[in-house]
Amino acid sequence: MKVFIIGIGGGVGLRLARRLVARGDQVDGLLRRAATRERLAAEGIAAAPGDLVAMSVPELAAAMRGADAIVFTAGAGGRGGPEATAQVDGEGPGKVAAAAELAGIRRFVLVSVFPEAWRERRMNEAFERYMVAKKLAETRLVLTDLDWIVLRPSALSDAPGVGTVDLGLAKVHDEIRRDDVAATIAELLRRPEVGRVILEVTGGATPIADAVAAMTP
Ligand SMILES: NC(=O)c1ccc[n+]([C@@H]2O[C@H](COP(=O)([O-])OP(=O)(O)OC[C@H]3O[C@@H](n4cnc5c(N)ncnc54)[C@H](OP(=O)(O)O)[C@@H]3O)[C@@H](O)[C@H]2O)c1
Repeated sequence: MKVFIIGIGGGVGLRLARRLVARGDQVDGLLRRAATRERLAAEGIAAAPGDLVAMSVPELAAAMRGADAIVFTAGAGGRGGPEATAQVDGEGPGKVAAAAELAGIRRFVLVSVFPEAWRERRMNEAFERYMVAKKLAETRLVLTDLDWIVLRPSALSDAPGVGTVDLGLAKVHDEIRRDDVAATIAELLRRPEVGRVILEVTGGATPIADAVAAMTP
């Protein structure tokens, strides 16, 4: 399987790329910085130079053509102000979905966020803007004819993965390790029967393969 990862140099994206390569899948993606491209190439992960904001839909389609699945795990991360949040987190997934349709790629996994994430905290305006942008992206993707999955992880940590999660249609927001999110996406990609569904995932005790298998309709 060839998987095109938008955000391949990011926390979840790179962990996913490494995992897919290790199990014999091919990966590709977009990277904005030459230095990151060189670093990833040194570990056998090739990616094309590209910026999803700067590229047109036909350019994105050309870059992704031949992939079996797209994973969107990019995010402006609060950098670049409101415009970057709107363009990357808000408009980005819909733009990449249009490119996927043009390139004939049906499988599309969007990494989103719990709607109630950190509602118990007093978050700033930029965070609220991010939440609105992520929800907008979900609303666009679910209207497409693609074989989409929206995966909402809870707050991400860089602690080593444990190989177990709590995955389902509705979960309480808590924390999850980026390794375990990447492993969940990798497993979802192996299960074409799970699709057109919004899933929430947080830290838990169910082995990832079992948790994903339980989502089979
Ligand atoms: N942080 C959390 O607790 C949390 C919780 C739930 C969900 N999420 C979501 O989970 C996903 C992964 O999070 P993460 O923390 O692993 O991400 P991350 O490390 O911040 O990585 C984001 C990636 O997006 C890429 N990117 C940004 N703008 C781009 C553009 N214009 N064109 C191409 N690539 C672009 C970045 O590339 P560069 O390397 O070039 O900057 C980076 O590789 C994100 O969608 C995030 O919103 C995060």
